[in-house]
Amino acid sequence: MRLDLMKAKIFSGVQPTSVPTIGNYVGAMRQFVELQDDYDATYCIVNQHAITVPQDPAKLHQTTRELAALYLALGIDPKKATIFVQSDVPAHTQAAWIILCTTGLGELERMTQFKDKSTKQESVNAGLLCYPALMVADIILYDAAYVPVGEDQKQHLELTRNYVDRFNQRYGKGKELLVKPEIITPKSGGRVMSLQDPFSKMSKSDTNAKATISLLDDPKTILKKMKSAVTDSVGQVNYDRENQPAVSNLLDIFSAFSGRSIDSLVAEYHEAGYGTFKQAIADSIIATLEPIQAEYHRLLTSSTLDDILADGAKKANQQANKVLARMEKAIGLTYR
Ligand code: TYM
Repeated sequence: MRLDLMKAKIFSGVQPTSVPTIGNYVGAMRQFVELQDDYDATYCIVNQHAITVPQDPAKLHQTTRELAALYLALGIDPKKATIFVQSDVPAHTQAAWIILCTTGLGELERMTQFKDKSTKQESVNAGLLCYPALMVADIILYDAAYVPVGEDQKQHLELTRNYVDRFNQRYGKGKELLVKPEIITPKSGGRVMSLQDPFSKMSKSDTNAKATISLLDDPKTILKKMKSAVTDSVGQVNYDRENQPAVSNLLDIFSAFSGRSIDSLVAEYHEAGYGTFKQAIADSIIATLEPIQAEYHRLLTSSTLDDILADGAKKANQQANKVLARMEKAIGLTYR
């Protein structure tokens, strides 16, 4: 294929820990669908990342399939993008080992996600610390030029970029052996906050069910959670992150689900009252999620899901093994 006709590659992944939230959707998954037309896209279900914290085996098996069905239901088209499960491609853990061997302990200990997660646990396993090296492997094995993610992944992307520089300098002999990726975050909604606390990130592992809306919540639950979202005593809808963080967060969510600009939403709902504002947000979320959920339930029971994942694994293995071989050759892990 002519070089100027080749599409740039993108890679991203989501952990199958529990059902993704509207935060995952707005921050990352919505972009997966938009980008698949213009890029050579690969989207992974990162189940090996999920086991850095304890998981119930039967539940992990189930949530892995569910996330695959959700990817498809959101509109990721397997004819345009590759969808696969991380553990189907051994090159990820093979490359992660190589990466770990030239990554400083200090670099890993500095990661804010490691610090957050390790303080929440009684005993910390080495996998939690080494997690970013596996993420570096995920990205570089696909020669990804761009990585669509939420803002919480910025530090991991920086680590990846530093690693690529280091590897290319040390082993490249003037050649770019690994591709240095750029982050893609959405213009608004790159960090969707909890519905109960506008200062903490919406997270699928939040124990307070009212803090998040999951992509599989039914209409009644969505409305109930939206109605109980915290606001403030100002009583007017303004986009002002400093003085009205909760309302601004709701505006980001509303804009993402309605496709309307923040300015036009503020103009319409400025004096409407929070009750009306919240009802309209819930309506836009429900209108987006209802058809996705119907498709999700259909896919979950169909055998096409297995065929798509098998085909995705085949393509992913081909691509990943090419880059792994490039890495192994460069560092001398060959003898024939
Ligand atoms: P994970 O599974 O925690 O989240 C999946 C994606 O959702 C984004 N996200 C958010 N965006 C906006 N607001 C929020 N409240 C919010 N919560 C989560 C995340 O930024 C992410 O893009 N380490 C990654 C998974 C991963 C990965 C990769 C991503 C593993 N390897 C390689 C990209 C490339 C993670 O834990 O995402």
